[in-house]
Amino acid sequence: MMGAPIPFLMQRATAPADALGRALADLRISVIDRCNFRCPYCMPEEQYAQDHAFLRARERLSFDEMERLARIFVSLGVRKLRLTGGEPLLRRDLPELVARLARVDGVEDLALTTNGALLPRFAQALREAGLHRITVSLDSLDPETYRRMAGDRGEVGQVLAAIAASERAGFGALKVNCVVLRGVNEEGVLELVERFRGTPHVLRFIEYMDVGTLNGWRAERVVPSEELRARIHARWPLEALPRQLQSDTARRWRFADGAGEVGFISSVSEPFCGDCSRARLSADGKLYTCLFARTGHDLRGPLRAGDSDDALRARIAGLWSLRGDRYSERRAELRAAGVLEHVEMFKIGG
Ligand SMILES: C[S@@+](CC[C@H](N)C(=O)[O-])C[C@H]1O[C@@H](n2cnc3c(N)ncnc32)[C@H](O)[C@@H]1O
Ligand code: SF4
Repeated sequence: MMGAPIPFLMQRATAPADALGRALADLRISVIDRCNFRCPYCMPEEQYAQDHAFLRARERLSFDEMERLARIFVSLGVRKLRLTGGEPLLRRDLPELVARLARVDGVEDLALTTNGALLPRFAQALREAGLHRITVSLDSLDPETYRRMAGDRGEVGQVLAAIAASERAGFGALKVNCVVLRGVNEEGVLELVERFRGTPHVLRFIEYMDVGTLNGWRAERVVPSEELRARIHARWPLEALPRQLQSDTARRWRFADGAGEVGFISSVSEPFCGDCSRARLSADGKLYTCLFARTGHDLRGPLRAGDSDDALRARIAGLWSLRGDRYSERRAELRAAGVLEHVEMFKIGG
């Protein structure tokens, strides 16, 4: 069923622009919808019955199917792949998938986002498989606050061990993601900054977003990046850095004393839809054209029904060309109009 491989130089020319002129450049692949944590801002424990129906193995895309779709996305202009979840390290044999994707001609960046709990076990294998970069989530250094932010799961020491294991495995600079919730972990922000200042790792503060519908998002719980930046600046002066890529989600600031940098992902206070080049593939093979979309477009059905690569490529290109999403820029207006349902974050990753 595979179409003939297209020469790499020709592939570049085929990237479609969406309805707002945005090119397709990144693909985030959620490899599993399960998680070993229950972060209240993502998968709040009380919302999940013991018998919650997560995807069964046959409902998830196989590695063959993911690799095939990844190749097609790359032929449409994708250069960056990120594996996410749920917790991606719960997917059995993840290093094997990494090795397959690392070999796809045209992939310039292959990254993983993980909560880190299982990373000490896998860091070396992931490195050997060809993973380029790791983003690890760490919401607090205080053991109690950490557990509160992880839904009473995990230990902060595991994440620190994960960072050390990644360093030993040869991953240089990690990104360290911290979601900040008003009145929960905001007091620990300076302690986190201090911990990562002077290291190659880049701490990024993420505004709490109204992804999904289960987390009971309220605007009052968002700590705007500008407030955090001012707090950090008062202690360690910061200077703005230019964006490396137009589509980068994080605004970067460096410490004036040369001790590295911090980033801010401000989807609520400073939406960045205008430059969004990201497509998202759920573990059951649905294409989401926005993190805040309510529904996805099924690719698994046509793939399993025997569609050729060319037919799948045309389907994806067509969906992308119709994309007009800019939820974050229209958040206030859309929420006021009752648009409150979004796909859950653990289904399509960050
Ligand atoms: C959905 S998780 C998946 C990967 C992995 N389980 C992890 O936590 O790193 C990806 C990222 O989304 C972030 N995230 C989840 N829910 C969020 C929310 N409501 N607002 C902002 N960021 C969120 C997480 O903190 C994490 O950094
Ligand atoms: S943010 Fe990541 S670790 Fe936390 S519940 Fe969601 S998927 Fe799991």
